[in-house]
Amino acid sequence: MTDASTRALAAAAAAPADIAAAAAALEAGALVAFPTETVYGLGADAENPAAVAKIYAAKGRPQDHPVIVHIAPGADLDYWTTEVAPEARALASHFWPGPLTLILKRNAHIPDAVSGGQDTVGIRCPSHPVAMQLLQAFKGGKGGVAAPSANKFGNVSPTTAQHVRDEFHDEVGQGNVIDSVLDGGSSQVGIESTILDMSRLATHGPVLLRPGHITAQQIAGVIGAMPRQPDQAAPRASGTLESHYAPKAPVALLPTGDIEKVLAELKLRGRSAALIHYTPFALTQANVALPAEPKGYAYGVYAALRAMDLEQVDVILVEAPPADDAWLGVNDRLRRAAFGSTGIIERFLRS
Ligand code: TXA
Ligand code: MG
Repeated sequence: MTDASTRALAAAAAAPADIAAAAAALEAGALVAFPTETVYGLGADAENPAAVAKIYAAKGRPQDHPVIVHIAPGADLDYWTTEVAPEARALASHFWPGPLTLILKRNAHIPDAVSGGQDTVGIRCPSHPVAMQLLQAFKGGKGGVAAPSANKFGNVSPTTAQHVRDEFHDEVGQGNVIDSVLDGGSSQVGIESTILDMSRLATHGPVLLRPGHITAQQIAGVIGAMPRQPDQAAPRASGTLESHYAPKAPVALLPTGDIEKVLAELKLRGRSAALIHYTPFALTQANVALPAEPKGYAYGVYAALRAMDLEQVDVILVEAPPADDAWLGVNDRLRRAAFGSTGIIERFLRS
């Protein structure tokens, strides 16, 4: 291990006393926000329906949207699930701990609350050192922590502890809705886990419900079958709603070649704009330049959307990334962030 990665891990690890307190809070039925390598999660004891209900209330999330159960490395998958195909086990042993969620048939004793009434459960073993510390401490490593992203329903997911505090303000702190926020620095991946439905393998094959850092090609490399796109009967995933991950300001995705022209025309009409881009432009307005490659872009995109939202502009313009497979996860999130703002530029330029 290099010095740099040792430092990164040391910086990301939490104090044992903080971990013990967070684990105890979870065991007592409270909510704890914690870092994962994808985004920060808002956790509750997955086997305590009253605690899980608090997540839905805090997020303002509809009751029928299932949450992912996070388990410690080496935890017993069969405790949570049933009918696990060898392909699913192969994926778990290859990619866990890591940013892959497997949808599997739910074991009968797992509460309805985590599954939104469906007969499946989403399971993931995260690789962030603080998440692993917490999961190992919670119920001696045998528990499951139900955790959606730690944001209000539909908003941009948090990739730092500060984002979580910004999202929930005075709901955080002992005796409040969220007992504590564990700080593990910036989430290394930056967009949510890849979700793969392995619960209907015999009839539908593997189905990619949400693209992410782990790609369909990598999955095919392990199980020898390319995941399919979701069909009508596929399990529901809220991250697949057309509008999601959205800042308060409207978002418009634009091809590189249109950016300068649209900025100039908006200015003429007295409209303010911020820009998230990866091509260098000569700019006078608020902007964030992200790396021109998908992993670095994913790492920064949610923080960029949040930062540009604070600028109180009329619209956040986003330079549309390339359309190739490597950008699938990023493009998926950007498309949903922009969905509710369809036609906004045309409206501004007409008025
Ligand atoms: O990276 C991640 O997955 C983050 C971190 C915190 O682990 N979590 C996350 O959770 O993104 P959330 O709730 O924001 O998104 C989870 C998605 C939702 O779209 C949910 O509907 C879907 O997973 N999901 C969970 N359980 C499911 C199930 N049994 N069947 C279908 N979809 C499921
Ligand atoms: Mg979410």
